[in-house]
Amino acid sequence: MNSRVVAGSRVDDDAQYEAGLRPRSLDEYIGQDRIRDNLEVSIAAARGRGEALDHVLLYGPPGLGKTTLAYVIGNEMGVAVRATAGPVIEKPGDLAAMLTNLQPHEILFIDEIHRMAPNIEEILYPAMEDYELDIVIGQGPSARSVKVPLPRFTLVGATTRAGLLTGPLRARFGIVHRLDFYEERDIHEIVRRSARILGVPIDEDAGRELARRSRGTPRIANRLLRRVRDFAQVRADGTVTAEVARAALELLEVDDQGFDEVDRKLLRTIIDKFGGGPVGVNSLAAAISEERDAIEDIYEPFLIQAGFLDRTPRGRVATARAYQYFGLTAPGKDSRLW
Ligand SMILES: Nc1ncnc2c1ncn2[C@@H]1O[C@H](COP(=O)(O)OP(=O)(O)OP(=O)(O)O)[C@@H](O)[C@H]1O
Ligand SMILES: [Mg+2]
Repeated sequence: MNSRVVAGSRVDDDAQYEAGLRPRSLDEYIGQDRIRDNLEVSIAAARGRGEALDHVLLYGPPGLGKTTLAYVIGNEMGVAVRATAGPVIEKPGDLAAMLTNLQPHEILFIDEIHRMAPNIEEILYPAMEDYELDIVIGQGPSARSVKVPLPRFTLVGATTRAGLLTGPLRARFGIVHRLDFYEERDIHEIVRRSARILGVPIDEDAGRELARRSRGTPRIANRLLRRVRDFAQVRADGTVTAEVARAALELLEVDDQGFDEVDRKLLRTIIDKFGGGPVGVNSLAAAISEERDAIEDIYEPFLIQAGFLDRTPRGRVATARAYQYFGLTAPGKDSRLW
């Protein structure tokens, strides 16, 4: 669906590299300081008491490190992580089997937890709260419910769309963390670390250039690093200098802001076709031929955080900064625009 080089979501060969670049401990996990500090305390406390960690919900845009964090938590707790994903669980029995197979304190990681079927989600309520399964045996008048005890386990749920989680499910997580786009210096640090692991010689300036264009997203930083490495190998002597990085990024059509074709099209459409907005997300999706979900999950969060787009109750609005970006003057009268 999405092969843009600055997509936060996974594309083509990301998976192959991600395994090797994933931090394994909290110490290796760069940035997100507040979350790291909080988890450190929660984990140390749980370990100290010899208990399972409270259930953890991690949410935020794609590529910021939710899956990574789930495995880091497993390592720090010294327990195995059993992974599945919302859309993959087909029958209630599949989830029940996973739950009954867990060892005490182990982690069940459910990715895309907002995409679980309601009848499957219901199994999680008593499992999370009372560590038991409610199983209905038989049918009709003779049906009866039996309770099966479960080991004390930790559910780690990840989602890009916390808003789509049901209230009862959300309420059962004791630890809830929202991952935000990374600071540029943290992304730079991630670029340094990844370059070290991949054996890519890279200048400080080049690293900073990559960091600036990575939309605060580690997955994008790692991807750009690989593409820039290719360029350095083929068009230069293998070392990634600032000059090489800039030339490579230009070839990839990733600009100074980390914007690509789709970002520019999205902003330009709001400005040109909808007078700067507000425009509803459905009209916008139709106008640029993208899925509504893709706009909400992938494109929009960064544009909003970077101050190019505003989300109002009446729809999306291009900010003054967006106008400036295209060398245009914003319609000044509007106090929404800054
Ligand atoms: N804090 C971090 N420090 C260093 N590298 C990181 C960090 N967070 C993520 N990464 C890198 O970014 C890649 C993507 O992270 P991850 O797969 O955990 O994102 P995600 O939030 O689960 O994305 P999605 O929503 O698409 O599932 C990882 O393979 C890892 O190499
Ligand atoms: Mg993930």
